[in-house]
Amino acid sequence: MEKPVDTPVRKGRSLFAVSQSVPLPLLEVSADVDEARIFIGMNEMDRVLGGGLVPGSLVLLAGEPGIGKSTLLLQILCHLASDQKKVLYISGEESLTQIRMRSERLREIPGGLWVVCESGLDRIIEIVEEQGPSVLAVDSIQTLFCDEISSAPGSIAQVREAAARLMQLARLKGVPTILVGHVTKEGAIAGPRVLEHLVDTVLYFEGDRSHTFRLLRTIKNRYGPTHEIGVFEMTEAGLEQVPNPSEVFLGQRPKAVPGSVVVPCMEGTRPILVEIQALVSPSHLSMPRRTSTGIDSNRLALLIAVAERHLGVALYDRDIFINVAGGLKISEPASELAVIMAMVSSLREVPLDMDTAVFGEVGLTGEVRAVGRAELRLNEAARLGLKKCVIPWAGSDRLKFSDSLEILPVKRIDEAVAAMSEVS
Ligand SMILES: Nc1ncnc2c1ncn2[C@@H]1O[C@H](COP(=O)(O)OP(=O)(O)OP(=O)(O)O)[C@@H](O)[C@H]1O
Ligand SMILES: [Mg+2]
Repeated sequence: MEKPVDTPVRKGRSLFAVSQSVPLPLLEVSADVDEARIFIGMNEMDRVLGGGLVPGSLVLLAGEPGIGKSTLLLQILCHLASDQKKVLYISGEESLTQIRMRSERLREIPGGLWVVCESGLDRIIEIVEEQGPSVLAVDSIQTLFCDEISSAPGSIAQVREAAARLMQLARLKGVPTILVGHVTKEGAIAGPRVLEHLVDTVLYFEGDRSHTFRLLRTIKNRYGPTHEIGVFEMTEAGLEQVPNPSEVFLGQRPKAVPGSVVVPCMEGTRPILVEIQALVSPSHLSMPRRTSTGIDSNRLALLIAVAERHLGVALYDRDIFINVAGGLKISEPASELAVIMAMVSSLREVPLDMDTAVFGEVGLTGEVRAVGRAELRLNEAARLGLKKCVIPWAGSDRLKFSDSLEILPVKRIDEAVAAMSEVS
């Protein structure tokens, strides 16, 4: 449990002597955020922001160390800056030379991109006052410090105070501000997590470092939808946008082969399409092998037992290998029906249609149970170009989802397996 190590001295005091607040009828308040939005000009970015940066808003760009946050930030700023529009990049982490070296990898550097190395909050506020940038970026929030707080930069008290003051600055000046925040592998976020409630938009930049693909996910947005994802590929020339993510996730998926099933999983609040692979082959061992990567082995044992009992398939003399492609780990029950279908598909050597996804929890009596967030899963499947989805029957009549998707609701696993012939 994270605990504040220090209490800010400036408690309750506003950074700026803001003029006296006067209440207004809500009707008279302007709601023209969309018109004032600043387009970044990178589709994947504008989408996750809900259509561009809102003036005066605070955006947190969080991610694990080394994932490419600074690269993405620099690219965003390069897109935003022009000779007319001044963009200010404040780095508390890297030297100006390092930033320049990184920028060499990227596209042309616009004249309006200004950089400064500074981590003192008071000086940063002065600089912003002096320079009057149209967009402000700080890399990273963990390096900032405020003199009045005795704890070290990166401590919760410092991070909170820095973000609160930058928020006031952003609001007062109407300058959209992007903060970079580090997230640790365990997800116990020293910093960004304590900021999530404060900032307007939280974007998570994530990806497996052994792969080149990166996902930018909207976790929270006061000015647009959440659950949007932006997909990028890390290349020699920086991060390139991937306009068709289905090709990324399922790109290495072999053409309709037995044993491969796509499942829309929820990663926290986030839907993601994953390929589950099964290989079921005759065993020459007295104790057939049961190996699973990315799925709990106890759960696999249970699913094998359910399949034997309720589908009448003989698996006791088979080696069974299950793999979640791309090295992902799935813990949620929604993948269970997909595991069973992948096993049956491999056993019978009947491939599923390439455009079909499957989700549902499997009960011990062979029933397919409803899972949460079905609409999100369906929409994610539709968004990534899939055409059909085998889903739990319960509640399926109330679901609202994209017209491009056809659903096949099933009550039991034998119906799902029978439906395989329709989707193969
Ligand atoms: N020439 C290159 N070609 C491809 N990828 C590169 C190249 N140079 C750097 N990278 C990638 O960029 C990553 C570093 O990106 P960046 O510095 O933007 O990350 P970061 O999230 O800001 O890291 P930090 O936590 O250190 O601030 C490296 O891990 C590497 O994967
Ligand atoms: Mg960085």
